[in-house]
Amino acid sequence: MDKLIELIRKILEEDQVIKITLGNMRKKSNPCKKVTIRPILLKKQLVYQVEYHFEKKVTHENLSAEEILLLCQRLINEEFKQVNVQTTDEEIQILASKPEKPKIIRRQTEKRAVAHLEHNKGKKYIIQEGEPCDFLIKLGVMGEDGTVFQKHYAKFRQINRYLEIVEDVLEYLPEREEKPLRIIDFGCGKSYLTFALYHYLRIMKKRNVEIIGLDLKEDVIEFCNNISEELGYPELHFLKGDIADYTSDHADMVVTLHACDTATDYALINAVRWNSKVILSVPCCQHELFHQIRSDLHQPLYKHGILKDRFTELLTDGLRGLKLEACGYEVAMIEFTSLEHTAKNIMIRAVKKEEAMKTASRKKAQEEYEALKTYYHVNPTMDQLKIK
Ligand SMILES: C[S@@+](CC[C@H](N)C(=O)[O-])C[C@H]1O[C@@H](n2cnc3c(N)ncnc32)[C@H](O)[C@@H]1O
Repeated sequence: MDKLIELIRKILEEDQVIKITLGNMRKKSNPCKKVTIRPILLKKQLVYQVEYHFEKKVTHENLSAEEILLLCQRLINEEFKQVNVQTTDEEIQILASKPEKPKIIRRQTEKRAVAHLEHNKGKKYIIQEGEPCDFLIKLGVMGEDGTVFQKHYAKFRQINRYLEIVEDVLEYLPEREEKPLRIIDFGCGKSYLTFALYHYLRIMKKRNVEIIGLDLKEDVIEFCNNISEELGYPELHFLKGDIADYTSDHADMVVTLHACDTATDYALINAVRWNSKVILSVPCCQHELFHQIRSDLHQPLYKHGILKDRFTELLTDGLRGLKLEACGYEVAMIEFTSLEHTAKNIMIRAVKKEEAMKTASRKKAQEEYEALKTYYHVNPTMDQLKIK
């Protein structure tokens, strides 16, 4: 244990911490499921913001470096078996089933400044303005000197927000040396975010990945493959095809960002069938249930097309979330980008954890799914997923 705490003390003293995550609970009954720690500047003082993730809420407190050490010591002894430390140039994984005999795995990463010491999380960027970034230059988001062009600032922010979300799910992706992580981005379009994902995982995090972007449009696919080749991104490929017909033997992570209508469902169905560990999906154009939905009580609302449309969107995504829970995923609906930019801003984040979700919770989710379907008289494409 001393060895572990010494390691964390040294990293804190050298001001190298970007993020510490404590997870993998000692007991399934732990009320707190995960703890993350990040340095922030509060009234010009360096403190550490601790986030406690409970089943249905997240709480925060700010602590000093000394208090963080005591907290880590207690949490490793009593609550969590794993610690992941991300520093400015390293990722350290600590497996502490036996705290006195921890297994420590260290991996060098690309140097990254602790430049996000802001209390306002929205200002923390993984790709910094002012640091030239190859794919952003190529796609015309920033100039050669790293200055972000004003008209592409919203895109720059969206890319960074997306990478923050990816950063938070990294721990659920398998660590494998022998076989690359396979990620499929369904409906990739012009692929700003697909390039960002590759840059982040392959270049910044030095992970062994292969990423496939799939889209219906031939010209878009040709454009993206050319850019990928010019950038020298060997494991990023783009294919023309329809999500509904796409076959593969596996994918560790599936992404869909604004894939239209039921294209999102086919992507989710594929992900579940491949047992993908992480799904990030921002649905859009949820039209399927619009002509099916019926409810005597809500009929006065449905006479206004816009309300019926919004309501169907929420019902569609709510049902998708429940179906994923019934399939054993832990699901969170999170805000992707700010509502000022697009109303299509709900992301379904689903992760499959090592410890299987309780059968009773899965059964409950399936019952809730069926009850909503019956109440609203709808038959979504997600029904194609049969629960075993
Ligand atoms: C709104 S764009 C989003 C592009 C990109 N993901 C983004 O967020 O910038 C939707 C893309 O999904 C593609 N798409 C829609 N349905 C599809 C399907 N069934 N199979 C493959 N691609 C599809 C469209 O061609 C289009 O490029």
